[in-house]
Amino acid sequence: MSLDLDAPAVTPTPESDPRRTTSWLPGRADIRYGGDYNPEQWPREVWLEDIALMKQAGINLVSVGIFSWALLEPREGEYDFTFLDDILGLLHDAGIDVDLATPTTVPPAWFWSAYPDSHPVTREGLTLGRGSRGMVSPSSPDYRRAATAITEKLAERYGRHPAVVLWHVHNEYGAPISDDYGVHSVRAFRAWLQTRYGTLDALNAAWGTLFWGQTYGEWTDIDAPRVSATVVNQTQRLDFARFTSDALLACYVAERDVIKRHAPHLPVTTNFMSTNCPSIDYWKWAREVDVVANDHYLAAERHDNHVLLAMDADLNRSLAGGAPWMLMEHSTSAVNWQPRNIAKRPGELARNSTTHLARGADAILFFQFRASRYGAEKFHSAMLPHAGTSSRIWREVVEYGAELGRLAAVRGSRVEARVAILWDVESFWAHDLEWRPSVELDHRERIVAFYTALWNLGVTVDFRHPHDDLSGYDLVLAPSQYIVDAETSANLTSFVRSGGRFVASYFSGVVDENDAVPAGGAPGGLREVLGLSVPEFLPLYAEQIVTLDSGASGTGWSDDIVLEGAEAVARYTSGPAVGGPAVTRNRLGDGTAWYVSTRLDGADLTAFVRGVLDEAGVDVPADRVEGLEVVVRHGDDAEFTFFVNHSDADADVRVDAGVELLGGEAVDGPLTVPAGGVRVVRSPRG
Ligand code: GAL
Repeated sequence: MSLDLDAPAVTPTPESDPRRTTSWLPGRADIRYGGDYNPEQWPREVWLEDIALMKQAGINLVSVGIFSWALLEPREGEYDFTFLDDILGLLHDAGIDVDLATPTTVPPAWFWSAYPDSHPVTREGLTLGRGSRGMVSPSSPDYRRAATAITEKLAERYGRHPAVVLWHVHNEYGAPISDDYGVHSVRAFRAWLQTRYGTLDALNAAWGTLFWGQTYGEWTDIDAPRVSATVVNQTQRLDFARFTSDALLACYVAERDVIKRHAPHLPVTTNFMSTNCPSIDYWKWAREVDVVANDHYLAAERHDNHVLLAMDADLNRSLAGGAPWMLMEHSTSAVNWQPRNIAKRPGELARNSTTHLARGADAILFFQFRASRYGAEKFHSAMLPHAGTSSRIWREVVEYGAELGRLAAVRGSRVEARVAILWDVESFWAHDLEWRPSVELDHRERIVAFYTALWNLGVTVDFRHPHDDLSGYDLVLAPSQYIVDAETSANLTSFVRSGGRFVASYFSGVVDENDAVPAGGAPGGLREVLGLSVPEFLPLYAEQIVTLDSGASGTGWSDDIVLEGAEAVARYTSGPAVGGPAVTRNRLGDGTAWYVSTRLDGADLTAFVRGVLDEAGVDVPADRVEGLEVVVRHGDDAEFTFFVNHSDADADVRVDAGVELLGGEAVDGPLTVPAGGVRVVRSPRG
């Protein structure tokens, strides 16, 4: 196979709809349940026991072969498929479907001996060694050739295998590392830049290379933005981040296209880490997968980790354009890679899984089926722990499998949201670079804060790219929209003019797509929509609290605001902007835009968001019970209301006439959701 690494890193597919999922897994109509399965770590007699236990737990899908390259191709060009033939046959005979992986996240030892320059190099210049996983230069031609070769062999052999219902390319692209500063990446970066800019003049202008004397006269003088004496050109950093996401995507696309030649009837995917992989632009990637699949692990020590889980699930649904998606991995209990790996408490497995399901997942899978006895993950939980079938975890796994069986009717139903939060990874990349006006600025922090306020109010949220059509939403929030390019500016302005409600938080509209400050400064492309300008940022001292005449208080940040049509909804009563506007509202066309110039938190932020929801006409559930998560999935003729009780107290709610699916009982009016428990009510649509 000939490779052209000088070609653009990825072929754009402009005709494809960024919010589409082309297919679901063929076969069964129920919710998919299962996990990663690594039988190669066990003797064959254990496989037979595993399969019997999978049947007991209601498992209908397992991901196989993710780390098997060394077994399948023991020497370059020599293949041995005995183990896969055997296990796929056994699984199929048992009626368990297979999500077959390409094993390209871990090249075998022979690969490193033959192609040592495929090792990635870190920004600091360290060449990473072998003996781990996920550590290869995405731009290495030898890696691309070897990866597509093993993929070709697998797809030829198993493309029509009756067990296989889905292809799983690689594993978690971008983790544990993404960017590579080695020779192959430098060469591919230059080619990517040539495609983006065409001429060096255009590149020099976009990168602002007149600053600090960086003008380039030859493409070959351009390097990856490795560590230097001090801050490196920030547009170069941003472009390198864009390039890295594209280079990894090109690896996925290359393998996917090989599979599609042999198995055009089957969906192909790769597992995302949607809110947790800062190096991948998943909006772009979502166009290239047939079904969105995601891995999610709780931040074990955070008491609000169920809110972050909900946010992650909402982003996946949004990446899937509202279509059903797969939870490809999560954990039954503790992971092994966080500082303190807090075990899940009884019932937490069901609550976590049900939140994903409630927010649109139609497949609930875990890492992994049987706990490893050796290797780096021997202390990670599994569906079948070391303690075996007498364990609490196994009991909960079996119980949850049975519960999913009772929820089959949920398959294919959809979540509807009237509120969207902008999610833009390019803003994330650029926002969090060095030498920003304050270390208190943190792209993700504001998004989590606004999402949490909405979660606390019981409002379901979609995420959207700032270029997306937003007309279906009553309210759009931009908690951290650092980059505002011309398209975003026009999109948001027209959204508000035609009646939309919009909220921007501070440090939004600060730069254009080249990380350059627009004429007139902040809020750049948001100036018309917000009806104000910000002549000076006024970051606060570490412990400083500023007060507002609304009774709220803020930390971290404030702005000197000049009103240009907007009105002040709240003014500062202390701090460097005392007397000036703190929160503003601008009427534009038929819509309204708010600006929040300080870090509101907790009850203050919730109260602000609540006020905006009221003005936008978005219903906030009146009788909301604290800690009770309520999400509705809409089917063709039924609605499924999911109740997940995260609190220690029983929650009494009122429901429409219907059936509680887990208990199978008719309900009409009062329903108690036990402390830590889950209920799902099916009622007629309407
Ligand atoms: C995921 C990875 C799995 C496993 C898991 C442990 O990121 O895809 O292979 O390592 O983490 O939590």
